[in-house]
Amino acid sequence: MSVLDPLYSIYEWYISRDLRLEEMPKHVAITMDGNRRYARFQRNMSTLDGHKHGRNTLEEFLGWCVDLGIEIVTVYAFSSKNFNRPSEEVEGLMELFKENFEGIAQNKNIHNNEVRVKAVGQLDLLPDDVRRAIDIAEKSTANYDKMILNIAIGYDGRLEIVDTIKKISEKVKDGKLDPASITEKMVNENLYTAGLDDPNLIIRTSGEERFSGFLLWQASYSELYFCDSYWPAFRKVDFLRALRSYQQRERRYGV
Ligand code: IPE
Ligand code: MG
Repeated sequence: MSVLDPLYSIYEWYISRDLRLEEMPKHVAITMDGNRRYARFQRNMSTLDGHKHGRNTLEEFLGWCVDLGIEIVTVYAFSSKNFNRPSEEVEGLMELFKENFEGIAQNKNIHNNEVRVKAVGQLDLLPDDVRRAIDIAEKSTANYDKMILNIAIGYDGRLEIVDTIKKISEKVKDGKLDPASITEKMVNENLYTAGLDDPNLIIRTSGEERFSGFLLWQASYSELYFCDSYWPAFRKVDFLRALRSYQQRERRYGV
């Protein structure tokens, strides 16, 4: 416990006063960025430990989402481009993903809150043991529907759109679909996130203000929020501030 904790509690209370529970975004997506910079900032911390701290933040973050009644959470855990990082880091991350997905099947918060977990991305790029762990996590939560947690892993929004085009083209090739009758809804139904509402709010930590391929199709009308904290240092007050900012904006949908 830090000496600042009581101050943060007061700050959380202060921001919460402005929030309306009935106007929470239904779907929050977040790019969890800044794990390595966080580790570097701590001086003696390894990159992998930075990622482990990031994993702990995700667990806390999910608890806040449950408390605030957010129904769908999508997190950007690993992009297709991240495979180009040093092999030691990629291997460490894959080991962490394997542990975490396996842990989901055992995790009492996931079961008590009936969270359905789904991995979205080009899963065939992942090592077999990670894919097996994903399968265990998805199967052990498949019947839940109180909250949905999408974990974007091996994900890239452009590749998702390419895959969607391939799926739709197959139907055209088989003579089952006339290209003139392709609709937006049909595209939605063939994305990795098929069937889910678009994110209302997308947050990116660490001060970077880019999409980096996250939910390119789905983000069309999302509100964007950027904050300077590195992901492992992201606190509940940062999240509450993002929600307050979201609620203060008037959403127009081009009208
Ligand atoms: C996000 O943190 C985690 C992953 C992309 C796996 P980074 O690893 O990108 O950390 P920074 O942005 O280099 O600090
Ligand atoms: Mg980064």
